[in-house]
Amino acid sequence: MSDFFSGRVVWITGASSGIGEALVNEFVSKGSRVIASSYDIDQLERVTDRCSGMKGSITAVPFDLADTSAIEKIVHEVAAKEGKIDILLNIGGISQRALIKETPLWLDRRIMEVNYFGTIALTKAVLPYMIKAGGGQIAATSSISGRFGFPLRSAYSASKQALHGFFETLLLEHKRDNIRVSVLIPGRVRTKISFRALTASGEEHGKMDEGLDKGITPEKAAKQIIRGLRRNRREILVGSSELLMLSIRKYLPALFFWLAGRIKHT
Ligand SMILES: NC(=O)c1ccc[n+]([C@@H]2O[C@H](COP(=O)([O-])OP(=O)(O)OC[C@H]3O[C@@H](n4cnc5c(N)ncnc54)[C@H](OP(=O)(O)O)[C@@H]3O)[C@@H](O)[C@H]2O)c1
Repeated sequence: MSDFFSGRVVWITGASSGIGEALVNEFVSKGSRVIASSYDIDQLERVTDRCSGMKGSITAVPFDLADTSAIEKIVHEVAAKEGKIDILLNIGGISQRALIKETPLWLDRRIMEVNYFGTIALTKAVLPYMIKAGGGQIAATSSISGRFGFPLRSAYSASKQALHGFFETLLLEHKRDNIRVSVLIPGRVRTKISFRALTASGEEHGKMDEGLDKGITPEKAAKQIIRGLRRNRREILVGSSELLMLSIRKYLPALFFWLAGRIKHT
């Protein structure tokens, strides 16, 4: 029996690394026709080469999520070539390691451009093709810091919280168009996200966070995400015991602020 995802056109951003790369491997091995996007062409080529010989196919479509003016044309070209886009998984994003008092406004904007505007620009451009085709599935990647503030992550947390507002609205407005919408909420996944997080100067942090190092693997994250997508979950929690912080923030806010307030950030 063929897999539900076999033959589906699945567009994945953030495909060159971490969670996105693991999802690419899963979908290509299930027989999907994957469109793999990120900015770094060399890394995309590496991912593409790794998938050769698998059941499905992969096409690299590199672009900068921050360059939203280019996105509509790219989507048009992909839709014309592939004939349809069944699933869009917005995974690409960047993090932050800088205090509010040190973070220049251009850096707040940069993080919003990549994480929020890039994601919604791609989604808005893909949406009409899905509606015309009678339906589709879209996911966006938030974070547990998209559910609460967290030291050194002001712009990151804000960009992820904004995604919840947008994608919940998308779900409500397009349920009748058969558009399934999920927001992914990862806790800790062992990827390069902290290495590549932006510091106040705009340079990369260049370090693996201690907590992140104890996180689940990207492969495990991809399996949790696919399970949630199959079940059409509105929110898909990705991670392990750290996800408890979501419940603590919701039901025991005083405890949350005490715990988060103890985090060393100077
Ligand atoms: N890892 C975690 O614990 C964790 C926790 C919560 C949320 N998340 C979220 O999960 C998603 C995936 O992150 P990850 O952990 O897999 O990190 P990662 O290994 O650093 O991967 C990030 C991906 O985003 C892409 N990207 C970044 N800036 C881009 C831009 N301007 N244009 C196009 N692509 C861009 C990168 O592509 P290039 O290499 O081409 O730049 C890369 O493929 C992110 O949205 C992140 O915020 C992760």
